[in-house]
Amino acid sequence: AGTLGAAAAEKGRYFGAAVAANHLGEAPYASTLNTEFNSATPENEMKWDAVESTRNSFTYGPADQIVNHAQSRGMKVRGHTLVWHSQLPGWVGGLGAADLRTAMNNHITQVMQHYKGKIHSWDVVNEAFQDGSSGARRSSPFQDKLGNGFIEEAFRTARAADPAAKLCYNDYNTDGVNAKSNAVYNLVRDFKARGVPIDCVGFQSHFNSASPVPGDYRANLQRFADLGVDVQITELDIEGSGTAQANSYTTVVNACLGVSRCTGITVWGVTDKYSWRASGTPLLFDNNYAKKPAYNAVLTAL
Ligand code: XIL
Repeated sequence: AGTLGAAAAEKGRYFGAAVAANHLGEAPYASTLNTEFNSATPENEMKWDAVESTRNSFTYGPADQIVNHAQSRGMKVRGHTLVWHSQLPGWVGGLGAADLRTAMNNHITQVMQHYKGKIHSWDVVNEAFQDGSSGARRSSPFQDKLGNGFIEEAFRTARAADPAAKLCYNDYNTDGVNAKSNAVYNLVRDFKARGVPIDCVGFQSHFNSASPVPGDYRANLQRFADLGVDVQITELDIEGSGTAQANSYTTVVNACLGVSRCTGITVWGVTDKYSWRASGTPLLFDNNYAKKPAYNAVLTAL
């Protein structure tokens, strides 16, 4: 197959990109997206500050634009993200515990019902664990006021809101076996043991020279899959250039293809031109939408 999406589809997987609504009007941006990718993740448009900046007043325009663009071209959509400490409007952090619980469940329910039937997988909770060796939860309004049970509550609410959507836990620095991924592993194992709904784990996979593709990446994906969840590579980007970058992309694709429950890969942007990692060139298309060596490596590996 001659495109990323078609090649991934032949392997029973999707190949997606993070998409920003405000770039869809740029012809080469849209044509690259439309030609190469068969899944889209709104980069910012579904985050809490974008959809509910004022309590119980929901704004769906920019996210709808991406969903409509994707659906009308046969692409799947990943939902990102419902409960996260970042890009969270100030009013949420100002609530007391009882009110915060109500607001969290209302947010999940409203947003998921709006997109019911249109989202293949939702990042229900994003980045709830700390970096480093502790394996502890990260401080957030949800963690600090609702306690450890907030993740379970979010997933139960999400299942009720859209029973057909796959419900994912998503995080970074969990790509290899380490204290943080062990903490997520223990959470997922506990959920599966107790029947708490969870279907997938997202591995963001933001890599650079300080944080390269781990040698045990595939093994780590496999141990999660062995718990009975799908795994997805959700925000892939790899700083660097040329052959080294291309080789790292090959390693990532091979890791996913080596795990039958790795259902798809999303790169965190269409083009280096708009990467959130402004200092870098971490994606598959350069600033002029030309295919990079990394693109050819991915297509070859798929
Ligand atoms: C980033 C976006 O790419 C930026 O445009 C925004 O300014 C900040 O958030 N982990 C995540 C993503 O889960 O939502 C983040 O996206 C990158 C890190």
